[in-house]
Amino acid sequence: MAAASFLFAVCTALSTLSGSSVTGTRSFSIDYKNHCFLKDGKPFQYISGSIHYSRIPQYYWKDRLVKMYMTGLNAVQVYVPWNFHEAVQGVHNFTGDRDLEHFLNLANQTGLLVILRPGPYICAEWEMGGLPAWLLQKPNIILRSSDADYLEAVSSWLAVLLPKIKPWLYINGGNIITVQVENEYGSYFACDYNYMRHLRTLFRFFLGEDVVLFTTDGNTDKEMTCGSLDGLYATVDFGTDTNITVAFKRQRRFEPQGPLVNSEFYTGWLDHWGDQHAMVGAQKVSRVLEEMLTMGASVNMYMFEGGTNFGYWNGADHDSRFRSVVTSYDYDAPLTEAGDPTEKLLAIRDVVKQFRDIPAGPIPPATPKFAYGFVTLEKIGNISSLLDTISPLGPVQSKYPLTFEEIKQYYGYMLYRTTLPHDLTEPTPLISPLNGVHDRAYVSVNGVFQGLLQRDTALVMNVTGKQGDTLDILVENMGRVNFGSKINDYKGLVSNLILGKDVLTGWKIYPLDIDAAISRGWPHSNSRKSVPSPRREPSAGPTLYMGTLQPNGLAWDTFLKLIEWTKGQVWINGVNLGRYWPGRGPQQTLYVPGPLLSTSLPNNITLLELEGAPAHLRIVFMDRPQLNATAGKS
Ligand SMILES: *[C@@H]1O[C@H](CO)[C@@H](O)[C@H](O)[C@H]1NC(C)=O
Ligand SMILES: *[C@@H]1O[C@H](CO)[C@@H](O)[C@H](O)[C@H]1NC(C)=O
Ligand SMILES: *[C@@H]1O[C@H](CO)[C@@H](O)[C@H](O)[C@H]1NC(C)=O
Ligand SMILES: *[C@@H]1O[C@H](CO)[C@@H](O)[C@H](O)[C@H]1NC(C)=O
Ligand SMILES: *[C@@H]1O[C@H](CO)[C@@H](O)[C@H](O)[C@H]1NC(C)=O
Ligand SMILES: *[C@@H]1O[C@H](CO)[C@@H](O)[C@H](O)[C@H]1NC(C)=O
Ligand SMILES: *[C@@H]1O[C@H](CO)[C@@H](O)[C@H](O)[C@H]1NC(C)=O
Repeated sequence: MAAASFLFAVCTALSTLSGSSVTGTRSFSIDYKNHCFLKDGKPFQYISGSIHYSRIPQYYWKDRLVKMYMTGLNAVQVYVPWNFHEAVQGVHNFTGDRDLEHFLNLANQTGLLVILRPGPYICAEWEMGGLPAWLLQKPNIILRSSDADYLEAVSSWLAVLLPKIKPWLYINGGNIITVQVENEYGSYFACDYNYMRHLRTLFRFFLGEDVVLFTTDGNTDKEMTCGSLDGLYATVDFGTDTNITVAFKRQRRFEPQGPLVNSEFYTGWLDHWGDQHAMVGAQKVSRVLEEMLTMGASVNMYMFEGGTNFGYWNGADHDSRFRSVVTSYDYDAPLTEAGDPTEKLLAIRDVVKQFRDIPAGPIPPATPKFAYGFVTLEKIGNISSLLDTISPLGPVQSKYPLTFEEIKQYYGYMLYRTTLPHDLTEPTPLISPLNGVHDRAYVSVNGVFQGLLQRDTALVMNVTGKQGDTLDILVENMGRVNFGSKINDYKGLVSNLILGKDVLTGWKIYPLDIDAAISRGWPHSNSRKSVPSPRREPSAGPTLYMGTLQPNGLAWDTFLKLIEWTKGQVWINGVNLGRYWPGRGPQQTLYVPGPLLSTSLPNNITLLELEGAPAHLRIVFMDRPQLNATAGKS
């Protein structure tokens, strides 16, 4: 039979979508004969959307899930980021914003099934594709392969995660209908079937023989060949610019029978710093969705709500050069970064309506937003004057620089300090000959900011000073590569620096834990006299600032704009909101979820500015986001 004729053997699930099992036993399986999923013995087609609990504060999970349910979706697709749950090897966190089971429970209460994607690698434009950076303590580890150390770590993690999942499987009384193994494995160079077999064995061992396991791959033969494995149902992913017939024909070559599935239908796209803001038109999305659903395909929309890369959780790409993902993961998705319904959502809902009964009633409205206005910050001090507080353990000494991974501080910032070996009266080149600044270095001599080095793009700068002067190099980890062959992305100074003709040695390396200092109440808890004018002076080079947003009885969502600030990181009431870089864009505002604001106490703002603050030292809270720099300038 020709491939095309399979395509038109449509799964006729949707007319019989609702209703529970006749026999009362719960089952979920693949009907190879009728090209369908079978739920409780009846044909089933899913219309799903991706949502990442790690990118949305817990207090908003229910709101977002209800909005998805009211759009007419019958399932949500969820990644589990390993590094979010096991930041330190052997120490697991499943509480608060990391409470996966609470999320599953809310989805179940809402009436949504779950397509779970536990990795262990997830990509997701998430730091290191979800892999914990401590894996890199073994030099030359081959991630996502049958490397013994990698497999051992994976086995330990899955032995913790999968038993938690098991009771949530649909067949066991929960809501998880299918579970993905790895993620787009075929796009990785290793193509290691032993690794995929190992995962299959673990998933089967912990989840049982009856759960539907699947793989997802990009739409090429090479990807499908390396990514699929016998016993794991092979699905494809593609966006609005792909020819649907061609894409599903390719899935058919690997799965001649069974449901057509697009596991990631792209409703939008991500932004990198310095890129144009990505958008995908609502009409295009809804038209292609309609075509796929008409073919009987099960479709997951990636993303339905993207959310935010809070803290240091953004990933990066490394194709021709290193490009870091912006803080917002709005994705131009049907629900915005702040969870608000868009035109795109309404267009999708109109399509879904043609295929299944959607719940009666309106989509819940956008949460209220408030423009709290301007706050003027004051300088706390430069990094070197604050080391006792932000690096309480003091420096590690080493002849040559050590990486973040060697120091075991995996995220954020680290200060590398040494002295100038000679007088440098003429501007003398400071060089990273092996492109070893991962990812951005802010260089000062005796407290005077001299410039910066940047991975792939600025490997030399000039320095002047005297023998014995202090050379401070603050290195920023801008997020580990999450896709492709370069995911072994060590951070810090990963190779020697050369100054003039000298290899720099004799380093003191200060791991900075600004987050811990802030969570102890610093800097706002410090009693301080008001010393207005000198403290208001901006300075060049890495400097910390503080301020307070006075409470006004409201704790509504708002958007923080850092007009004329250069690049840095912001915390409010101890929550790390992520990175800003307005000059690079396209993102101009940081999302501030309302519930983190206090209605009665001063709200504590701390800001690390890496390069240079504006003289006005003001920041502004607006009632709408600006994610498109070009639009912001109009
Ligand atoms: C676990 O994660 C939650 C939510 O992010 C956090 O509040 C809590 O402090 C973490 N627990 C530990 C022990 O680190
Ligand atoms: C999921 O929700 C259904 C319907 O409300 C309920 O009967 C069931 O017990 C829930 N399952 C779990 C695992 O909580
Ligand atoms: C998709 O590809 C098929 C087969 O190559 C072709 O016949 C069809 O015209 C294409 N559809 C579109 C919308 O380009
Ligand atoms: C840092 O601040 C201290 C104390 O105010 C000052 O003495 C020093 O010159 C400053 N250094 C830098 C890096 O600006
Ligand atoms: C460094 O200084 C030299 C001499 O002034 C100049 O020719 C060169 O362009 C400078 N290099 C950089 C990277 O600024
Ligand atoms: C801000 O910091 C001050 C001083 O430590 C503290 O009293 C206040 O409770 C903090 N505000 C909030 C909202 O936590
Ligand atoms: C960004 O804003 C500019 C100016 O309003 C507009 O021309 C452009 O189309 C916008 N880009 C996107 C992707 O919306």
